[in-house]
Amino acid sequence: MAQILLRWIVLVVNILGGVALKDTGDYIRMHNYPVEKHTAVTQDGYILALYRIPNSPRRPSTSGPKPAVLFVHGMTCSSDYWVIIGPDQGLPFLLADEGYDVWLINSRGNIYSRKHLTISPNSKDFWQFDWHEIGIYDTTTSIDFILSMTGQTAVHYVGHSQGATSFLAMLSMRPEYNIKVKTSHLLGPVAFSGKMPSKLFKAINNFYLQLGDMELKYNTPFWSRIFSSLCTVLLLRHILCRNVAFLISGGSSRHLNMTLLPAMAATASAGISTRQIKHYVQLIDSGRFALFDFGKRDNLAIYGTTDPPDYPLNEVNPLSPIDFYYSENDGMASVEDVLLTIDSLPNARGHRHQFSDWGHIDYVFGNNLKFYVNNDIVNIANAFESRLSEANQHHR
Ligand SMILES: *[C@@H]1O[C@H](CO)[C@@H](O)[C@H](O)[C@H]1NC(C)=O
Repeated sequence: MAQILLRWIVLVVNILGGVALKDTGDYIRMHNYPVEKHTAVTQDGYILALYRIPNSPRRPSTSGPKPAVLFVHGMTCSSDYWVIIGPDQGLPFLLADEGYDVWLINSRGNIYSRKHLTISPNSKDFWQFDWHEIGIYDTTTSIDFILSMTGQTAVHYVGHSQGATSFLAMLSMRPEYNIKVKTSHLLGPVAFSGKMPSKLFKAINNFYLQLGDMELKYNTPFWSRIFSSLCTVLLLRHILCRNVAFLISGGSSRHLNMTLLPAMAATASAGISTRQIKHYVQLIDSGRFALFDFGKRDNLAIYGTTDPPDYPLNEVNPLSPIDFYYSENDGMASVEDVLLTIDSLPNARGHRHQFSDWGHIDYVFGNNLKFYVNNDIVNIANAFESRLSEANQHHR
């Protein structure tokens, strides 16, 4: 009975709002950009979906090799996240317009990458991972896959939030990947978290730490459609959807592009393992940037020490300094923590881009994103590419 009632509500609201659920491919195609979907299999058996924008309708197709860019989304998100803002402001499109070969990863466990060669996602074993594995397996696999598909030797990297955490985990634990990263852009970057302003993580803590590692997915296509439809109603969008978005992302902001809320509501909560949250909670409690704490006895067996080791950030040394984009108003990444992260890198390996009143999700959904952030990223990547081609010409 309740189901039938809900279906009627959905129907009515959908008619009012006219929202249909889209996947990343739809969001790209609707702006007449070409899109490809690929799968890559990690060393430990997870089957990942990657979307590719190989070209742009705004650019006459050129022959010859194109530089590649890898985008890694934040926690509970997916590749949708980067493209719902559309081609006028969205970085994947802007980079495609500039002649880049754009790749968007979906990390293990989200709706696009909820697959494994031998383990069912319905089994507990599937969910024994956090952003550590997303860094050392999913991201390395994606980089190697992209390099083999494009004939390039290194990629540009863009990561939001957890996409920064996993990047630093990757380069410190698998330093052989440093030479495979050209420029890197970490937006709302989370690593050291001892000063994290968001209270949400703390609140969640006690509840989730009681449970084993498992799937956390509080959204289904059915509910996505409801949330999304509700957010098309202007009043609800301003009162409800906006504040839910702020609550989840750890703080309010003046910059959020409100037209994106219905699409954000449809795509949010793409699925994670609870261990991803637990690992962050450990970072908040310890003030360290350390590997996962399994408890003293298991740590001893796994790491050979009762406490988990720190990530060796002194190993992080990609082909050019890492660009950090952070703000005084970011509930997930405080300025103090970001500066501690930068100071822990080898000398001059971090470039600072400090904002005053940007919120955590504004780097992806903010107004005039092109002007505030994305033009800089494009220019930094372009400058790297022109230095590279000058150097190559010298060698001939
Ligand atoms: C907000 O997003 C919409 C939809 O992509 C876009 O058309 C508009 O230009 C954006 N507004 C600003 C100020 O960036």
